[in-house]
Amino acid sequence: MECSGRCRACPPAVAAGLAETRLQALDAAARLGSLTRELRPPVLDSFGLVPALSSLLLEVQEETDLDTELQVTGEEVRLAPEIELAAFRLIQEAVRNTLRHAEAVRLQVTVEFGPDELGITVADDGRGFTIEKLDDLATEHLGLLGMRERAIQLGGHVQMRSSPDTGTVIEARVPVPLRQPEQAPAPTVRKLD
Ligand SMILES: Nc1ncnc2c1ncn2[C@@H]1O[C@H](COP(=O)(O)OP(=O)(O)O)[C@@H](O)[C@H]1O
Ligand SMILES: [Mg+2]
Repeated sequence: MECSGRCRACPPAVAAGLAETRLQALDAAARLGSLTRELRPPVLDSFGLVPALSSLLLEVQEETDLDTELQVTGEEVRLAPEIELAAFRLIQEAVRNTLRHAEAVRLQVTVEFGPDELGITVADDGRGFTIEKLDDLATEHLGLLGMRERAIQLGGHVQMRSSPDTGTVIEARVPVPLRQPEQAPAPTVRKLD
């Protein structure tokens, strides 16, 4: 696709449409098996990001040998639908990559509800890979590119670290509307078995 909707010549409505089309194309290209069966998981709309992730990781735990854990910090709140969907899709692709490529034993997903940003970390203890310049590898790295695109579209960013010793860590930060500071609750760890 020549124009991703980010050029200045595009009217905003066209740009938004093109950007969404691009994300859908990235999604379609990266799709694998039953873990992406649902276009927009109903549990995400009805109950939010954490229940949707619990459900995703439970499915992984039940259908594969991967040991999964979901950690949630901060006050769990509902976020704008586009943020919840982007976060879910990003994590879904990272989980899918762990299953497809990592040969990992453990997978940990962390969601941090900060006062003004959502933090996401997906870490596996697998064999890792060499992270190259994503822009140079656009046709082969659609999953990783899609993660980055989603975060950037929401004003955030993604960092990726990977090595054979430490496995792969995908970390995303996305701004969310500022909330009043409150006493941070203790982190909760959910072990899915
Ligand atoms: N968690 C991971 N562990 C090991 N290798 C990974 C991981 N995530 C991504 N990779 C490597 O990065 C490549 C690009 O990933 P991605 O953009 O999602 O494309 P795809 O999954 O379609 O190959 C993968 O082919 C794989 O070599
Ligand atoms: Mg992938």
